Formats: sequence, structure tokens, C-alpha cells
Amino acid sequence: MTQEPTQSALEFAHQLRCIGCDARIKGPKAAEDFRCRSCGSLFEVEYPGMFTARRRSAENLHTQSAAGALPALWSQRRFSNSRLDRSGVWRFRELLPFLEDERNVVTLEEGNTPLYALPRCGESLGLDNLFAKHQGMNPTGSFKDTGMTSALSVAHERGFPWVACASTGNTSAAMAAYAARAGMHALVLIPDGKVAWGKLAQSLDYGAITCQLKTDFDGCVAVLAELVRRAPVYLLNSVNPYRLEGQKTPAMEMAEALDWQVPDHMIVPGGNLANSSALGKGFAELHALGLIDRQPRISIIQAEGANPLFLSLTQHEGKQLHPVQADTRATAIRIGNPASWLKAMRVLQGTGGWCEQVSEQEIALAKAEIGAEGIGCEPASAVTLAGLKKLVAQGRIAKHEKVVLLLTGHTLKDPEYTIDFYRGSLLTAEEIAAMPDQQREKMQALARAPMVLEPEVETVMRVLDAAVRG
Ligand code: F0G
Repeated sequence: MTQEPTQSALEFAHQLRCIGCDARIKGPKAAEDFRCRSCGSLFEVEYPGMFTARRRSAENLHTQSAAGALPALWSQRRFSNSRLDRSGVWRFRELLPFLEDERNVVTLEEGNTPLYALPRCGESLGLDNLFAKHQGMNPTGSFKDTGMTSALSVAHERGFPWVACASTGNTSAAMAAYAARAGMHALVLIPDGKVAWGKLAQSLDYGAITCQLKTDFDGCVAVLAELVRRAPVYLLNSVNPYRLEGQKTPAMEMAEALDWQVPDHMIVPGGNLANSSALGKGFAELHALGLIDRQPRISIIQAEGANPLFLSLTQHEGKQLHPVQADTRATAIRIGNPASWLKAMRVLQGTGGWCEQVSEQEIALAKAEIGAEGIGCEPASAVTLAGLKKLVAQGRIAKHEKVVLLLTGHTLKDPEYTIDFYRGSLLTAEEIAAMPDQQREKMQALARAPMVLEPEVETVMRVLDAAVRG
């Protein structure tokens, strides 16, 4: 079943380009699994002519339609009360012209997330300019909202009553929320037992049919791939290229927040490996428009237990990817067979970024260090700081460079992980024993279990005195 539009003769300003064989097709002609019929690769959304036309007009900054006028227009929209302008995705809509009718947009006012300085983490690494772009500050608490508003709007416009995804938890939470807003039905496939409670709760709360399959994420993907061929559901995993269109907009926000001076280096967690490529696409498009003078390096960090991209680079020069049996407490990125690995590889190679892997101990410590800045994030996001430490130790990042960590999920997504960490029950004795001394000492300095006390002022005073004395 191809995705025929419900209205005939739609005129699209976009097309889909296969990243494997370069075939071009019209958006509604994509197969239900979003794989190229000739070579099986994934597609990306392309806007023929847009960049050359806008760039040409950028040379004349007095022309209203010029690319040069876009930053001012995008910024002005932050003061507007119109539905689309209030979204941090759709206020960049000149770069997202794939809907027939803007009234079909389904939005929860996503995006417009903060770019925080991380002075203490930066200082301990000898970096002067370390920031966190906190995508966990989106309506459902993860970066998935930016991609969900774009792809679910397509499903809505094309008349699909059902949407579906396989997920490690955040995609399903976002999909369930946006489907509920649009009055659509949602089917969620998640791995039984390996989804953080906050995410499972969201999917239920937003009314999705929630199936916990007795398998892992990769097993859920396999079931869904077959299901979309048999049932008229619209697939909202990140193989859907419209997801990446929304997920590219943090690049615009970051450039804007840094007065159109891009960071030197962005560090992104890697799971199914779509988000890194979405950001790469965002920066590449800004560059093509002449709005930024260069693109940042984009590096991808994986958990040691879910490291197929890292293994591909270190063992096969990035030419093949062998799936692994994934296991990590950072359940969001517990993925062994990432669908978008070729797109991610292209971004690494195109921007000169690196791929690193980090241990469970390194993730736990980094998460606590980000928390100690008053920001907090979920474990999968903390791989970015853990990976940055490795890149700094390898001499790959200089003191003056402007580095942005992409924090992908809110700390409240997985409170169980955090509480276990502070209670000292997250890591096993063997894992703690295996830590380098300096890391263990840092962790012990940060760990503080909640205290259950008698309700007496004297008792609390004693605790306070001890804390003040250090
Ligand atoms: N961080 C968080 C918090 C995530 O939820 C995910 C992916 C990633 C990072 C990795 O992004 O897959 O584009 O490389 N979560 C997906 C989900 C797979 O189902 O929620 P990626």
C-alpha cells in the first residue's frame, strides 16, 4: 500500500531523495516502510531549487524574500501570538515547505528550547565555552516533539486515522501526545521492561494503544515493519524523513541564539542515529543559504553496550555495520541495529566529527555532573558530557572552542535511574571497583542519599551543621 494522498493533484514543493541510489520520488509515493523500492535505503526530504533561489536573493539583502531577511523574520515571530509562530519548529517554516496546507499542522508549541551555559562542567574540562541545548524542555520532555510535529502533520494532512511507532519510550510519548491533539489513533510498540516509567506513563496518559512486546527495540521495529505492510497505519519512526525536518530546527535555534555564529562542535547521543543527521541537515541548509559561514563538527556518542556505529568505525572503516545485542541502563539508546547509520556516517565524515563510546559508570557520573549545574537530563543525554571528556583527553577539542552538548531528554523521564544513583544502588560493586580512582572519588563526592529522620529541629540542625562543615 503506497501512501496516496487523500486529495488528488497535490502540488508539493518537495521530493524525497534516496540516500543509497539517488532515486527521486514524490512524497506521497513513498512505500509504507519509507524504504527505497530499488535499493532499500532511506530517503531524505529535498527542496529542489530552494537553496539556489534563496541564496541568489541573499546577495541582495534589500529583497524581502531574501535569505538574508529570514533571521529577522524568524526572530520577530517569537513575539507573535499566531499558532504557527509560537512553535519553535514552524517559525522556521520557510525551510519546511512540505505541507499542502499549513492548517494541517499539529503543534504543541514545541521547540524554542534553552541554550544553557555549563560553567562548572566546562571549567573542570578546561573549556571556556561549554553549552547545553536542552531538548528535554519540549512539551513531552524530549527532542522527539520537534520531529513529531512535522511528521504527524503529514499523516494528518494525508488522512491517516492511525499512526504507529516502535520506540524506546520517547518517540512513543511524543507520538501519543501529538496524535491525541489531532484526534488520531496511536499504536505504540515498546520493549517489555526496558522503558523508563515516565515514558510509559505518558503513552498511557495520552491514550495510545500501548503494547509491551517481549523483545527489545530492534524486535519491536521488525514487528512494526511487517505490520505497516498489512494495516493502514502511518509509520512515525525516524525512518520517516519528515521527522528529520522538524528535528533539524534546533540547528536554526542554536545559530540564532549564538547571533548566527555557529558552535565549533556539537555532541549528540547516538541510538537509532537519525537525530545526528537531522542536525547535520539543518546546519548544511543554513550554510547553503549563506546564513552561517561554516558548519560545526558533529560527534556522536554511544553507550558501550549499544555501540554498533563505534564498532563500524573502529573495525570496518565505517563501511559496514554489524548489529549488536544492545544493553545499557540508558534505555533510550538501547539499540543494536540503528536504521539511520548511513545518514549518521555521512554527517560524521562530512563535518569531521568523531564517534566515541562511554561506559555505564561514565554515563552515571556525567549525568550527576549535569544535574549539579541545576539542569538535569535523562541518562541517554548524559553520554554527551561523558564523550566530551574523552574527546578533550584525546586533544581533539581546544580550550577556546565553543562546544554544545545536545541534551535530548528531561531528567524526570527516568527518575528511577537517578534515585538508584543517589542511593548507591545503580552500579554493581564490580562496576564501582572497576572505576579509575579519580572517577570513583568524584562520584562519591556527588552521591547523597535522601535521609529519613525524626521530625525534630535538633536532628535536622545536626545534618545542616555537618553539611556546612563539609
Ligand atoms: N536520546 C534520547 C533521550 C532518545 O530518546 C533517543 C532515541 C536518542 C537520544 C537517540 O536518538 O535514535 O535519533 O540516535 N530514542 C528513540 C525512541 C529511539 O524510540 O524514543 P537517535
